[in-house]
Amino acid sequence: REKAVKDQFNMAGTVIGNILGVKNEEPKEEGRDDTQEDAFTQDAIRKPAEPGEGDEGADFKAEGRYADHMKKPNEAASEFSRTKTIDEQRRFLPIYGCRQALLNVVRDNSVVVLVGETGSGKTTQIAQYLHEDGYTTFGVVGCTQPRRVAAMSVAKRVSEEVGVELGQEVGYSIRFEDVTSENTVIKFMTDGVLLRESLTEGDLDRYSAVIMDEAHERSLNTDVLFGILKKVVSRRMDMKLIVTSATMDATKFSEFFGNVPVFRIPGRTFPVDIIYAKQPCEDYVEAAVKQALQIHLSQPPGDILIFMTGQEDILCTCQVITERLLELGDKVPAILVLPVYSLLPSELQAKIFDKAEGGARKVIVATNIAETSLTVDGIFYVIDCGYCKFKVYNPRMGMDSLTIFPVSQAAANQRSGRAGRTGPGRCYRMYTDFAYKHELLVQSVPEIQRTNLGNVVLLLKSLGIDNLLTFDFMDPPPQDNLLNSMYQLWFLGALDNTGSLTPMGRKMVEFPLDPTLAKMLIFSEGLGCVDDVATVVSALSMPTIFYRPREREEESDACREKFFAPESDHLTLLNVYLQWKKNNYRSDWCTRHFIHAKSMKKVKEVRVQILDICKQLKMTVSTCGSDWDQVRKAICSAYFQNAGKMKSVGEYVNMRSGMPCHLHPSSALYGMGVQPEYIVYHELVMTSKEYMQCVTSVDPEWLAELGPMFFSVKQPGETRAEKRQKEREKKAMMEKDMADYRARQEAKEAAQ
Ligand code: CDP
Ligand code: MG
Repeated sequence: REKAVKDQFNMAGTVIGNILGVKNEEPKEEGRDDTQEDAFTQDAIRKPAEPGEGDEGADFKAEGRYADHMKKPNEAASEFSRTKTIDEQRRFLPIYGCRQALLNVVRDNSVVVLVGETGSGKTTQIAQYLHEDGYTTFGVVGCTQPRRVAAMSVAKRVSEEVGVELGQEVGYSIRFEDVTSENTVIKFMTDGVLLRESLTEGDLDRYSAVIMDEAHERSLNTDVLFGILKKVVSRRMDMKLIVTSATMDATKFSEFFGNVPVFRIPGRTFPVDIIYAKQPCEDYVEAAVKQALQIHLSQPPGDILIFMTGQEDILCTCQVITERLLELGDKVPAILVLPVYSLLPSELQAKIFDKAEGGARKVIVATNIAETSLTVDGIFYVIDCGYCKFKVYNPRMGMDSLTIFPVSQAAANQRSGRAGRTGPGRCYRMYTDFAYKHELLVQSVPEIQRTNLGNVVLLLKSLGIDNLLTFDFMDPPPQDNLLNSMYQLWFLGALDNTGSLTPMGRKMVEFPLDPTLAKMLIFSEGLGCVDDVATVVSALSMPTIFYRPREREEESDACREKFFAPESDHLTLLNVYLQWKKNNYRSDWCTRHFIHAKSMKKVKEVRVQILDICKQLKMTVSTCGSDWDQVRKAICSAYFQNAGKMKSVGEYVNMRSGMPCHLHPSSALYGMGVQPEYIVYHELVMTSKEYMQCVTSVDPEWLAELGPMFFSVKQPGETRAEKRQKEREKKAMMEKDMADYRARQEAKEAAQ
């Protein structure tokens, strides 16, 4: 049974339910067929035990043993939302007290910066207030979020508060998922979506007001939107812009928009005790798990929020907690363990707001998404692992990598603040007092200063902003990053030597995809395989389509191997899709083959959307049938900068940077008899080693043909140094051309 529990846990981004309840379930007959669909709907694990069943520990609420433990006060918040009507809940929020004052300030100013503690009601209320005040009679009230999860969950909540069906008056739009209709007047969306809309509708005319929520997060797209919206409001007197921030440091925002008013929502927070680790911890997952269990066993009721770095750590934390609890046996009260991270399916994300069956203690294990964008009531304990995961761009290597960093002091304080929303709380930091004071940065570095700007450059260029170095950035990105991203776009063929968009670049902008993926798709037209490449691209937009439960690794690996195209992980994805299609897109087929049915459905949806764009661009959509070399060539056309040459079995070196990169054991190419000498990969992930994700073998001639700026077929007698020298010369020439062009433009502007 324990195994059954664990298996269920491992099904897809998961929730483990009322453990005692689970133990009462009969194990399913066929291990394999209690599908991930079950885990997604959670029926199996969340079904409460029948009360009065007599089995000890079956339903601890019905039992005397833990009654005391559960009946302590402190339940105020959850009680509150359980017993009060939605209207009462709305009136209880701190923002409600200054509703009218806020509306007055908005009426008198084009731009307002709004500051309020997390949970004061900014995200859920402002759009509604504007709606109630008539702003939706002449346009849509839009609200941007840096995160997809937040956009979806908030839209759902607001639709309930307004009392309409989600997707009608209140809707949301995130990449590849538009849940709005003609009736939508309150629209939540990711900042990326609004940024894209500004491409087709420069003045965002359909909006009467835009709320840029979570501006303190300083996401890349928010930072770009700042510059764009600043211009829009200066042109459109009828538009309102509200910029919200959870941190008190809003002066910078106000100054950027020309010293606009800052409206502060009076806070209502309780003191939070901060408890530091005595020594630096070696393993923050282990430390956090121990802390959580210790709280659970010795502290009064109140939910626990654990901050972890990302999906992998989160799932591991959830699992270890669950295992330890099982080891402790029936004597301990149940816990509802809930993971939250951006790639978790939305129905599961929504679970964090639900009340636990029988009032069990909830343990939410989250990324920094729970720092400010999601507010869950009833948290009294916070455990902060002290780290977060960021994508950082290394301009020298020309690549992004997801890396784990210590949090900033500002983020640490946001995290601890989550414990003091509904009563005095406690925050356990898994790092020392000394580390907090001396090792953490005061503020986090805004994304725009640390990531690849390929997409941004492409967008701004197509908005006609030619000289990016003069764009109105609140904090300009390092020039090196900007130039390097331009260089990348240049070798992908999106920019010409003068830094202007090429026809290829113009097409690339149309796709809501990374420039590389867009390039792959556009290039595939000439190879007659748009249809096939669209499948590959869609599958790449999913975190994974393979399902690999712990304890059944071998079984699932064996199943996956049957799909392997020995020369390519990309083709393996294509193969899975085609097989699925052959089997009428059935979910039970997926389940039988250890494939995520939900992910596959999403792949199918994304594919349709991508092909729609191809058709709009009048591209010829055809398939290459079984001539998959064409698909590999298309992949090569976009990823030649990630080319590797075999060094030894399983190990390659990046042909440009000399970086070692390894085949991942899950790759189709791993453990094959003859490994290809040349490959390209989708991205490099640093874990214990530099692992390549998604690898495809290529012909060296393709590299020379498709990436001539880096590769050439070696001339007899030419040394490596000479080859490098040529490469450097080409880049220098491109940079000089761009600089000359800029100088000419500037001279022209100055002369006018
Ligand atoms: O944006 P801010 O942090 O100021 O607060 P909010 O997200 O508007 O949250 C206000 C209240 O709504 C909190 O008490 C949340 O717990 C509640 N809420 C909810 O119950 N369900 C959601 N999906 C979002 C918010
Ligand atoms: Mg908010």
